[in-house]
Amino acid sequence: MTVIGQAGLGAWGKNLARNFDELADLAWLCDADESRRREFAARYSNAQVTGDFEELLADRSVEAVVIATPVPTHYELAKLALEAGKHVFVEKPPAMRAAEMEELCDLAEQRDLVLMPGHLLLYHPAVNMLKSLVEEGELGDVLCVYSNRQNLGRIRTDENALWSLGVHDLSVILYLLDEEPSEAWAHGNSFLTPGVEDVVFCYLRFPSGKIAHMHLSWLDPHKMRKITVVGKEKMVVFDDMELERKITVYEKAPWEPAENYGEWTTRTGDIYSPKIPTDEPLRLEVKHFLELVRNGPGEHREAIDGLRVVGALERLTESLATHSRTGA
Ligand SMILES: NC(=O)c1ccc[n+]([C@@H]2O[C@H](COP(=O)([O-])OP(=O)(O)OC[C@H]3O[C@@H](n4cnc5c(N)ncnc54)[C@H](O)[C@@H]3O)[C@@H](O)[C@H]2O)c1
Repeated sequence: MTVIGQAGLGAWGKNLARNFDELADLAWLCDADESRRREFAARYSNAQVTGDFEELLADRSVEAVVIATPVPTHYELAKLALEAGKHVFVEKPPAMRAAEMEELCDLAEQRDLVLMPGHLLLYHPAVNMLKSLVEEGELGDVLCVYSNRQNLGRIRTDENALWSLGVHDLSVILYLLDEEPSEAWAHGNSFLTPGVEDVVFCYLRFPSGKIAHMHLSWLDPHKMRKITVVGKEKMVVFDDMELERKITVYEKAPWEPAENYGEWTTRTGDIYSPKIPTDEPLRLEVKHFLELVRNGPGEHREAIDGLRVVGALERLTESLATHSRTGA
C-alpha cells in the first residue's frame, strides 16, 4: 500500500484523511494546531503525528504527500515535498501565481513525480458525462458555458468568492472546452468585508469564439451549484443540487429552415436525464491519485490542468482588482 503523509487536518483535510486511511497507508499526520493533532492522533492511532512538515518529509518510507492547508501555504509545502522526492496531492489551487505553479510543474516533470491538484469536480461522474457529451459531438458545436455557484452564506472574510467558489467552476469550464481563454474579465463587490468580494461575475472568451460566464456569490437567495452548456444541436445542465437528475439534456437548438434561408427559428424535442453513477467524487479523486503514484505521472495532465486553472485565476484576479468596488 502507498505510504502517505498528510499536512492540514481541518474541515476538508478530515475527509481526505478518511479516504487515504481507507485506500492507502496513512502513516503521518501533520498540523500546525496542537488541538487538531491531538484529535487526529486519537482517531488514527497507527499514524505518527507532528507539527513539523519537514519531519514527515524526512521519513524515507513516505511515498506521497497530501496537502490540505490554507491556500497561501500550498506552493511552499508542495515545493518542499517535490524537492524531497515525494509525489504530491495538493488541494486547489496549488499556487496563487502561474509562475509558482509552473515551477511546481517543472519540478514534478524533472523528477518524474505526480503533482495532482484537488480539482474535485473533475472526478464527479456528472462532469465526466458532460465531457463525453461535448467530446462525442452530442451537443454539436459548443457555443457557451455558464456556471452558478451561489448561496446565502457561508460568508468568508479571508478569501473572496472567486478564490473560494470559482476554482471549482473554472476547472470544469477549462476541462470541457480544453482551451486557454484569450480574454478574462471579472467584476465584483466587497459588500461586507473591505477587500473581500462577496459577489463576483466572471467572463471568459476563448480563441475558438466560445464564451463562458461564472456567477459566484454567498449573498444570494438561491442555493445553486449548476453548470449549463449550450451547444448548437443540444443543451445540457449539470445541477449538483439534484439528487437523481444531476444531468438533464435538452434537445433544444436554433434551427435555420432551408425554405427560409437566413431566418432562424428554434427546435424543441425530448428532455431526458441519463443515469449517473453515485460514486463519491472524493473517493474517485483519491483513487486516481493513488493509481498515478503506482503507475507514474504519464504526460502530467493533472499538473498541466492545474497550471491552466491558476493562470486563468491570476488573470481574473488582476481584472477584479481594477473592477472591484467596496460597499453598496
Ligand atoms: N476540494 C474541495 O471541494 C475543497 C473543499 C473545501 C476546502 N478545500 C481546500 O482544502 C484546503 C483546506 O481547507 P479547510 O477548509 O480544511 O481549511 P481549515 O482552515 O479548516 O484547515 C486548514 C488546516 O491546516 C493547518 N495548517 C495551516 N498551516 C499549516 C502548515 N504550514 N503546516 C501544517 N498545517 C497547517 C491549520 O492548523 C488547519 O488545521 C484549502 O486549500 C481549501 O481550498 C477543498
